[in-house]
Amino acid sequence: MTSEVLEKSTAAAKYESRVPRYTSYPTAPHFTPSVDDAVYSDWLRRLPAGTPASLYLHVPFCASLCWYCGCHTAVVHGQKPIDDYTELLAREIALVAELCAPEIVAVHWGGGTPNMLGSDGLARLTALLRQSFSFGDDAEIAAELDPRILTEEQVAGFAAAGLRRASLGVQDFNPEVQAAINRIQPFEMTARAVGWLRSAGIGGINLDLMYGLPLQTVESVVATVDQAATLRPDRVALFGYAHVPWMKKHQRLLPEDKLPGPAERLRQAEAAAERLVAHGYVRIGLDHFAHRDDPMALGLRDGTLRRNFQGYTTDTAPVLLGFGASAIGTLPQGYVQNTGDNTTYRKRIEAGRLATARGIAVTPEDLLRREIIERLMCDLHVDVAAIAARYGRSPSHFADVLPGLDALAADGLLTRDGWTITVTEAGRPLVRVVCALFDAYLQRGTARHSLAV
Ligand SMILES: C[S@@+](CC[C@H](N)C(=O)[O-])C[C@H]1O[C@@H](n2cnc3c(N)ncnc32)[C@H](O)[C@@H]1O
Ligand code: SF4
Repeated sequence: MTSEVLEKSTAAAKYESRVPRYTSYPTAPHFTPSVDDAVYSDWLRRLPAGTPASLYLHVPFCASLCWYCGCHTAVVHGQKPIDDYTELLAREIALVAELCAPEIVAVHWGGGTPNMLGSDGLARLTALLRQSFSFGDDAEIAAELDPRILTEEQVAGFAAAGLRRASLGVQDFNPEVQAAINRIQPFEMTARAVGWLRSAGIGGINLDLMYGLPLQTVESVVATVDQAATLRPDRVALFGYAHVPWMKKHQRLLPEDKLPGPAERLRQAEAAAERLVAHGYVRIGLDHFAHRDDPMALGLRDGTLRRNFQGYTTDTAPVLLGFGASAIGTLPQGYVQNTGDNTTYRKRIEAGRLATARGIAVTPEDLLRREIIERLMCDLHVDVAAIAARYGRSPSHFADVLPGLDALAADGLLTRDGWTITVTEAGRPLVRVVCALFDAYLQRGTARHSLAV
């Protein structure tokens, strides 16, 4: 172990805290049922026509269950539940389109596994979105795809529907790790999927990798990175396995005694990150890597990178409309989330109502803290005084944060020049701990989160 890694793992152990992933602020555990479908309808009606917006469509189905999975999804067999759900999404799109007229700049299909809809389902819904909303000329359509159930025919259909970016789940190429997580996906299968996508003109390729899974070692993670790099993805996401068996019971199927501890997780994360950088990728925030000419790397350089429920994004639209069970949306007034219960979702949509179950209206104080947290998560750097000034506040508003910042600075995790904070490379894996200092809800909540590293 190098002394640098030793220092970092000491810090990881010391700050072995559980903190949110900050894909929103306030974070989802603070959403409440006070934001219901009536509130959401009202917020949609108030959206000025032409407001740039992105769309997120959630497909809560998979062909089989990966035992590490933390996503909102379930295994389905047969075509009927998928066709029924496609119909419900179509009805929800119509309900929302009646209430607002935004200009769509991006569409993201997430899950679960959007390719479970098949190319016909995805093409039909994409056509409906185009009829229902006005689309910007260069609106980017992206989808998360599972290579194990992808076919060449599907890829041709997705390309015809306008898909331009695909995010492929990989995790690890080691056969023993794959067996332990119930996800058998030989390298050749992923390589074949990438080949089909590129040949069909779907040029933006992201690969999802993970560390912290059972049986993973520094060597296996680095070997996976090397294999992944041969496919020349534009972006790589390197997620730390979030072990939350109290929320996701199936995670108990994983051999818990084979899970790496916090120091080993950090070694794996750092070794994988160093290797990705050696392969020419630019390190983005907590867990993303992009080719230096990729828009995400450019976004990092010019300070326009954003963070939303899908993680890091180049999408700068102020509005995100979510469709499907559990989908989250962002409006100027606050966040809204659909019910995650598929039956309740169906009943609500069939009754001609929006399926909103919870959300939160944001206050100017929330917006101020959100901006600070987002800049830290994206840039690892923030000028607190400059942001506070835009909200008519003095930075002394955050005086109670100073002791925490100085403790992290003493451990080499950040530097502070007045109210300008820069997270160091040693602090990068713990950036969520820095953000947590600005989280006014954290102490009040009872939510349990995954490990900070
Ligand atoms: C919706 S899935 C990707 C698409 C598709 N379902 C698949 O797996 O191929 C999104 C990604 O979330 C990540 N993920 C899932 N469960 C996770 C967990 N418990 N902790 C961290 N990352 C997780 C995986 O990297 C996965 O590829
Ligand atoms: S990782 Fe992807 S394929 Fe596996 S269960 Fe989760 S959503 Fe489904």
